[in-house]
Amino acid sequence: MGKPLIVTIDGPAGVGKSTMAKQLAGHLSIPYLDTGAMFRSIAWKLGDGAWDWDKDRIQMTLDGMNFGLSGIGEDSVLTLNNTPVGSEIRTEQVGMWASNIATLPVIRTFLKTAQQNLGEKFSLVAEGRDMGTVIFPGAPHKFFLDASVEERANRRFKQLSSMNKPADFDELKDQISKRDHQDRNRVVAPLKAADDAITIDSTEMNKEQVFTVLKDGVA
Ligand code: C5P
Repeated sequence: MGKPLIVTIDGPAGVGKSTMAKQLAGHLSIPYLDTGAMFRSIAWKLGDGAWDWDKDRIQMTLDGMNFGLSGIGEDSVLTLNNTPVGSEIRTEQVGMWASNIATLPVIRTFLKTAQQNLGEKFSLVAEGRDMGTVIFPGAPHKFFLDASVEERANRRFKQLSSMNKPADFDELKDQISKRDHQDRNRVVAPLKAADDAITIDSTEMNKEQVFTVLKDGVA
């Protein structure tokens, strides 16, 4: 068996990384890895304020955690201790908790090992913030997906409205801006494009156009 193929997609909150990563993984018939979901599910398990705990207490909890991955494309399933990661992690509040714990080296070191272990076992489309820079620096295909904060808030607003969930555009824009600021400015593994990544500004592009760039990039 050859070495697994790794494709990385990084970018800020709400830019559509997951949608594109799922679609590209389906096209390549490989799993997609949502690393944001790994940070979110740890944040959810640890709970509010865990970013202020001492390192040993966090480490002890992490020692009992084990991530797994199965399936292909949009049917990829991420598990934590053999249970599929659920929709409870998909709120903006848990996103902020995730961003808070994502500043801690103890968390990043743990997830780096978990993510790299999955990348040894499987070919992956891996999406997150530091896939191309830190986790898989040797990946042959790297993308950085970007869009203005207004456009990203707008997409999230439409998505929530279509699910009949309450949404406030200004609040969404504010939450996304805050999370981005924290993710771009942290000391360890900040959000940024790898030097050898293809950057796609999708502000004025539709999904099909973005997908075409990704598909052509890996061809
Ligand atoms: O992508 P998603 O919004 O689910 O990510 C939640 C948070 O997890 C991000 O705001 C970021 O702080 C953190 N994260 C990270 N590195 C990754 C993926 C996510 O720091 N590779």
